[in-house]
Amino acid sequence: MVASSSSSAVEASLTALAVSLRGVTKVYDNGVMALGPFDLAVRKGEFISLLGPSGCGKSTALRIIAGLGAPSSGTVRVARHEGEVQPRRVQPGHGIGFVFQEPTLMPWANARENVRLPLRLAGMPKADARARADEALASVGLADFADSFPRELSGGMKMRVSLARALVTDPDILLMDEPFAALDEITRFRLNNDLLALWRSLRKTVIFVTHSVFESVYLSQRVVVMTARPGRIQADIRIETVEPRGEEFRTSAAYSDYCRSVSAALAPSYSGRSTL
Ligand SMILES: Nc1ncnc2c1ncn2[C@@H]1O[C@H](COP(=O)(O)OP(=O)(O)OP(=O)(O)O)[C@@H](O)[C@H]1O
Ligand SMILES: [Mg+2]
Repeated sequence: MVASSSSSAVEASLTALAVSLRGVTKVYDNGVMALGPFDLAVRKGEFISLLGPSGCGKSTALRIIAGLGAPSSGTVRVARHEGEVQPRRVQPGHGIGFVFQEPTLMPWANARENVRLPLRLAGMPKADARARADEALASVGLADFADSFPRELSGGMKMRVSLARALVTDPDILLMDEPFAALDEITRFRLNNDLLALWRSLRKTVIFVTHSVFESVYLSQRVVVMTARPGRIQADIRIETVEPRGEEFRTSAAYSDYCRSVSAALAPSYSGRSTL
């Protein structure tokens, strides 16, 4: 009886996980050990940030989670359907949306066509895909810009299109690799707020990579600090605050305290190496 209740407890905790990496390492063909051993468990609906020095394996970890690269060793589990966690080889885009640092839009196509691309590739009928693309554009505040081409959009708007393209397939998990790094601070703050609003309404699991301590604390429920390469977990810091977050949190003493703790956890990862 004891055994069965404890195994159902384990099952319950497994089904609550969106992503689980255990003992994951990555050695590239050129011999560079980028990651690991790396362990990470992300609960469904959680918003976490990965923070660490350049080259510590953050993008490598995201690519492995997305199925865009295989680990050299270890186990990767990603929830594919409601209530189910299973080992797999992920089909890129299957249940996962990926937002890259660069918006990577097709310059010859308007915003709607850019957002529609993943649906076209999946063979969705044109009219349905168009409606879904317009809905995704509206959700990121670009309802009036569906016909605009990338050259007609600002950097922040291009990033919004990229976000809409990641959301259009309604993924359970959103992976974001330094999406706002190239934007000015005010635009970045706006996108931070809009991303939080989207996360609250859509309840996706988000894994967000950033170099900014301030951004990670503002956005996340948990900040995972990585060591220098090969990336391992240096610290895992829970950010507990009143939700929904807004400018009040950004200017609060609690926010400064968290930023100080995260910076302190990050410092050893930078010691003795150039941060350039
Ligand atoms: N395709 C590849 N082949 C060989 N080495 C690679 C490859 N991709 C990444 N690396 C190396 O693996 C290490 C980790 O790279 P990765 O891009 O994951 O780091 P990162 O933490 O995302 O860095 P940044 O913050 O600068 O984006 C780096 O040393 C990088 O040179
Ligand atoms: Mg990177």
